Amino acid sequence: MLRFIFLVLLFIFSSCSYNELITGCTNPTASNYDQNATIDNGLCVLDICLSEPTFLECVKPIIDNNCVSCHSYGGDAGDILLTDYNLIIEADNMYDIINSINNTMPKGGLMPQKNINVIEKWFENGAPNN
Ligand code: HEC
Repeated sequence: MLRFIFLVLLFIFSSCSYNELITGCTNPTASNYDQNATIDNGLCVLDICLSEPTFLECVKPIIDNNCVSCHSYGGDAGDILLTDYNLIIEADNMYDIINSINNTMPKGGLMPQKNINVIEKWFENGAPNN
């Protein structure tokens, strides 16, 4: 009987840790891959994104995952849309974005410095639509 209880407990504990929800970067090819993460946090940074960031592969995923929930039609900040390339690069918008990701955005806590660097580098490189 004792052995049975032990096995049941073991099963409960092991299934708990198996189902544990750890957010982090789940892409093994990313420079900030977290092997313990079970839920992707949308903050993966591919190596190429640190040197020659492209819009589609590097910048858009960060903005989609961290900004668009509010900065889209019907969102909390639907007056500032960040849903596509043209809206993002609008002249003064871009300076506001750089300023905001270093100070106030996203609401509830800034992104890791690596993600901020990717967007800044892309902007420095002339914000290519690639
Ligand atoms: C939880 C909702 C939310 C998220 C997520 C969010 N924002 Fe905002 N954002 C707001 C609101 C609300 C405002 C309106 C002004 C304010 O409260 O500062 C705002 C304002 C801004 C502004 C205007 C200037 C400023 O700083 O006030 C910019 C630029 C901006 N956000 C960029 C971003 C970027 C880039 C991201 C993602 C990295 C982001 N936001 C994520 C809600 C959000």
